[in-house]
Amino acid sequence: MKISRTTALIGLSLALTAALAPIAIAQDAPPAAPAGNGSGKGGQPPREGGERGGRGGGQQVNLESSMKGMNRALKALKSAVSDASKKNECLKLVSEMQRNCAASKAATVPAEYLKSAADDAAKAKIEDEFRSDLRKNLRLLLDLEDAIVAGKTDEANALIVKVEALREHAHEEMGVED
Ligand code: HEM
Repeated sequence: MKISRTTALIGLSLALTAALAPIAIAQDAPPAAPAGNGSGKGGQPPREGGERGGRGGGQQVNLESSMKGMNRALKALKSAVSDASKKNECLKLVSEMQRNCAASKAATVPAEYLKSAADDAAKAKIEDEFRSDLRKNLRLLLDLEDAIVAGKTDEANALIVKVEALREHAHEEMGVED
């Protein structure tokens, strides 16, 4: 049978349309929902009662309550860290500290701690120092977690002393009364 060029071209394009249709449909489909991680994405509400307000909601973090959360967990950790039978409890507490430290780092520095700054550059310096100290603190807390996992009690206690010293230094620098 003799097929004209036009008929062959129409046939080919029909075949291509049929072959590519599923790809087009797949691209139009919404992406699979991510496993619930509490980040507020994919329609999931943010975990902490909307306190953080999802992406870019750093300003809504309550610094004082995050700091207090960090302190509460540290207190409990100090009394449990030398007891090998409380390892799991200690791991939960150190994670709680890390979570509160990260939340504090995302917060806006309250105006009362910026009022001594003469200009915007001086304000930015205070904010930089605030976040830099919290990054240091978060690193110490990760090291503390490693020490607890490895059952290195002396190391864990030494890291707790460092966290307390850093807290003292940062609070003094900023004029926080605790
Ligand atoms: C390492 C860097 C740190 C920085 C830059 C920092 C900074 C601050 C700031 C600015 C406040 C005042 C919050 C407000 O008035 O809303 C505050 C309060 C507080 N911080 Fe920190 N902090 C640090 C580490 C820590 C750590 C490691 C702890 C405890 C483990 C801690 C416990 C507290 C507590 C309990 C308060 C509340 C004080 C009160 O109002 O009663 N902080 N901190």
